[in-house]
Amino acid sequence: MQIDGKRILLTGGSSGIGLETARALIAKGARLCITGRRPDALEAAAAELGCAYAVADVGTPEGVAATVAAAQNALGGIDVLINNAGIGEFERVEDVTWEMLEQVFAVNVFGPAMLAAAVVPGMKAQGQGTIVNIASTSSQRGFALGSVYGSSKFALRGMTQCWQEELRRYNIRVCQINPSEVTTAFHQPGRRQRPAEAHKLRPQEIAHTLVAVLEIDDRAFVPEVSVWATNPF
Ligand SMILES: NC(=O)c1ccc[n+]([C@@H]2O[C@H](COP(=O)([O-])OP(=O)(O)OC[C@H]3O[C@@H](n4cnc5c(N)ncnc54)[C@H](OP(=O)(O)O)[C@@H]3O)[C@@H](O)[C@H]2O)c1
Repeated sequence: MQIDGKRILLTGGSSGIGLETARALIAKGARLCITGRRPDALEAAAAELGCAYAVADVGTPEGVAATVAAAQNALGGIDVLINNAGIGEFERVEDVTWEMLEQVFAVNVFGPAMLAAAVVPGMKAQGQGTIVNIASTSSQRGFALGSVYGSSKFALRGMTQCWQEELRRYNIRVCQINPSEVTTAFHQPGRRQRPAEAHKLRPQEIAHTLVAVLEIDDRAFVPEVSVWATNPF
């Protein structure tokens, strides 16, 4: 796919992986609508990027509807959906609560599912489309304290595989990217951006991967790709 001119809905574009990916896609000529819950952070990102935005919570039905409406209004259609917005909780088995599970699954699983439900009819009608799910290496292997976050990303991976089986016959490519640890504001106190560390992944590495996944010729798609730091120890 040529990224130039493509209409892209990217959730969670105000910081970290989403913001860096938005920069890379706009540099390639894409038209973007980015989303997030915090108006200040999102407006600052959209002003820097010169793109459309929607202040909306992807973890609620109303937020999903507002996200899709804003993207349709701004872009006139959607060629690429990037399900990037995500949150985490990391608790011992005995400390997991119903509310934590509901909140994390709403954002990491229900939101992506409902966004796909909303955009797939248009992709089928136009005969092409790409959906990229930003999951995690946590979607591949369980880990201590991963009951909530890990299981939500396992669920996202399961959906990715179902969508691949169901949608490739409509020329809709579904790809999953699994970052390992990336130095962002993810799960940081006060949502503070972590400083870059020489040997750890930066959002740039994930943005680079995502651009490559999109740019491969439309006859091909990358079902899943994981990105590790070479030597983070
Ligand atoms: N950082 C890592 O180590 C790592 C590793 C593997 C996978 N990932 C995944 O990568 C994705 C991006 O994470 P990141 O590291 O870039 O984190 P980040 O810096 O915290 O960025 C998350 C983005 O998503 C938005 N967001 C969060 N909840 C949202 C909601 N309910 N509705 C709409 N937007 C929402 C945030 O904006 P608001 O807070 O304003 O809503 C922000 O723009 C997530 O899916 C995460 O699980 C991260």
